[in-house]
Amino acid sequence: DQAPLEEAFEATIAGNDRIEPRDWMPDDYRKTLIRQVAQHAHSEIIGMQPEGNWITRAPSLRRKAVLLAKVQDEAGHGLYLYSATETLGISRDELTRRLISGKQKYSSIFNYPTLTYADVGTIGWLVDGAAICNQVPLCRTSYGPYGRAMIRICKEESFHQRQGYELLMTMMRGTDEQRAMVQESVNRFWWPALMMFGPPDGDSPNTEQSMAWGIKRHTNDELRQRFVDMSMPQAEALGVTFPDPELKWNEERDSYDYGEPDWEEFWHVVKGNGPCNAARVAHRKAAYDDGAWVRDAAMAFASQAGRVGRS
Ligand code: ACO
Repeated sequence: DQAPLEEAFEATIAGNDRIEPRDWMPDDYRKTLIRQVAQHAHSEIIGMQPEGNWITRAPSLRRKAVLLAKVQDEAGHGLYLYSATETLGISRDELTRRLISGKQKYSSIFNYPTLTYADVGTIGWLVDGAAICNQVPLCRTSYGPYGRAMIRICKEESFHQRQGYELLMTMMRGTDEQRAMVQESVNRFWWPALMMFGPPDGDSPNTEQSMAWGIKRHTNDELRQRFVDMSMPQAEALGVTFPDPELKWNEERDSYDYGEPDWEEFWHVVKGNGPCNAARVAHRKAAYDDGAWVRDAAMAFASQAGRVGRS
């Protein structure tokens, strides 16, 4: 009889407590988590590419060291999140195969190119800023391993955001050409950053159930609004503008009004047709294929070690 198990699960969710890997959970709860946490892990791993593009061309040793550390952090985030997903009964190898075969998604934002060095700063400021906004509430998500991974990830993302903002601030104190480079970069990344929060609530098939299960703590539009409100004073301090003529303080709502992102572009990118989708997945697949001999050697060594251990 499953009823007592279901009751225990519902009580845990209602009490804002954590579900742990060995606890009973509904199949759809497990499936939703595998979908979201894997998509999150894939985003961290694919997200290494746009910035990795600038490691060899960073303008100083200091900038290169910072960028290297940042990109390595993203790899670490991917690995904690794959480990959290594995506790749901699926292997990292299977998840990687789902990513490179296009069966699982990753964040739309990483399908845009990094055309100038200012993009490194803009990604830190806006993309990691949006990530923090979305991820801080996930520290309280109902699934234990996911929430615990998010705590460390958020701390590291805060460093990423600050390094981006500091980089842009330095460029803004530079020449007219550098200031123009920052503004041009912000113009390209503003709308895609807003799209990171997902479709509007009315077009988000998963939000309602994910909120009921305590997987998500806020809706896509709530977090998008929070991000706009948090970014406006930062843009003013930096001396840049966002490419949205409708952005305006709304006294009554105690928030900024803003324009509608181009949702057609969003779905186009999510379906795999953005400017860099094919290149991102091809690069990941090549790395996976090139690493096959390492995995095979590790498995062969482990099985031999096992034999020695038993004899
Ligand atoms: N990029 C790609 N796909 C997206 C995006 C996006 N920005 N936003 C939504 N989608 C997809 C969803 O995965 C879903 O498709 P699926 O059902 O096939 O998985 C579909 O669009 C509809 O969206 P929702 O119903 O709103 O999906 P969901 O409830 O999962 O909300 C969200 C999407 C907000 C991204 C949620 O999954 C989430 O908070 N994830 C954790 C954070 C995360 O993944 N961040 C990655 C980028 S940050 C970084 O790596 C630095």
